Amino acid sequence: MKTADVRADIPFLKEVIYLDAASTTPTPKPVVDAMCNYFYKFNSNTGRGAYRTAVKATSEFEKTRIKLAKFINCSENELIFTKNTTEAINLVSNGFNFKKGDSIIVPNIEHHSNLIPWLNLKKKGINVKIVEADQYGVVDPEDLIEAIDETVRLLTITHVSNSIGAIQPVEEIGKIAEENELLYMVDAAQSAGHMELDVKKINAHFVAGPGHKGLLGPVGTGFLYCSQQVINDLQPQNFGGGTVVQVTENDFKLSKVPARFEGGTQNIAGVIGLGAAIDYLNKIGLDKIEKHGKRLTKMMFSEIEDIENIIVYGRPENIYDIVGFNISGVNSHDVAKILDEQRSICVRSGFHCAIPAIKQIGAFELGGTVRASIHYYNTDEEIKILVETLEEISKFLGD
Ligand code: ALA
Repeated sequence: MKTADVRADIPFLKEVIYLDAASTTPTPKPVVDAMCNYFYKFNSNTGRGAYRTAVKATSEFEKTRIKLAKFINCSENELIFTKNTTEAINLVSNGFNFKKGDSIIVPNIEHHSNLIPWLNLKKKGINVKIVEADQYGVVDPEDLIEAIDETVRLLTITHVSNSIGAIQPVEEIGKIAEENELLYMVDAAQSAGHMELDVKKINAHFVAGPGHKGLLGPVGTGFLYCSQQVINDLQPQNFGGGTVVQVTENDFKLSKVPARFEGGTQNIAGVIGLGAAIDYLNKIGLDKIEKHGKRLTKMMFSEIEDIENIIVYGRPENIYDIVGFNISGVNSHDVAKILDEQRSICVRSGFHCAIPAIKQIGAFELGGTVRASIHYYNTDEEIKILVETLEEISKFLGD
């Protein structure tokens, strides 16, 4: 499938220049169709009814688990559906048996969703060791090694930073975690569906990701990969229907994994849509998506960098699908509003739910950054319009 074919499946892209994939991606028609098919033809609950439409709903829902497991290279028994990446990370922070005196290593380049759930554990006497990234948003594995001592139980890091797109050396860090017998978690919010995400290669115990960003699935979907090695040590956080095999008035027996983690009625339509999205990505080809993303990122970075009065963040050879920048002297929200008003360009501005990361790259005093983020549906032409519009804004408003 070519970029033009994907654009034809997303009518919304005729109205706007959508450069906010890091927030959420627009949903292609086959994904919407799969959800409509569920609503129109077999709208029933999963894992409960014996009647045919309920059985069909269960089987379609579970098919997504098989497809997604294959896509990230794990077994379907290691894959838990969540409503987003944040919920997946919180399931680990609250559901794993961290004890008073344990330490967790977290870089300062993280999205708040991979920081606050750990900071919150301080209330229980768990230490959080923050490791600084460099000015380009990249964490040096040597700094992580230095932070390791006998109290550390978990090392967690983002795969690609949501604020400036910096790619982290997650495989190398996986080896460090293994050598030091640490639990290892990767936040794949900005990598899943954008680049290869092989949870076994990374050697992580936990990988959290969204369905609604790079994977092109609907909002309200996400996942937690939890390796078989540790999944029985993870406690469910949402007990109820669907999570037990036996109940008395005094006790209960949990179902097998992953059912025990998916209490209550799930986002059935969303998960079925996510299955269609995986088919869609496979039809395009992840290698083509990655090649397209790398080329457009490079082009976007270098053309934005050439504009007068502009500061661009990160190292061009080490960022992917996300470019963060500022026009000096102009508030990032003003730039975003003008881009929208002038040319219907949608970008995110501000702190991107990553205040320590924004401080680390030196953009806090400027009120954050403007962030343009892309996927396979974006074109060279759209990037040119972004660059032209930025040139005009910079001429009129820049310092
Ligand atoms: N996590 C999303 C972002 O970075 C919402 O914009």
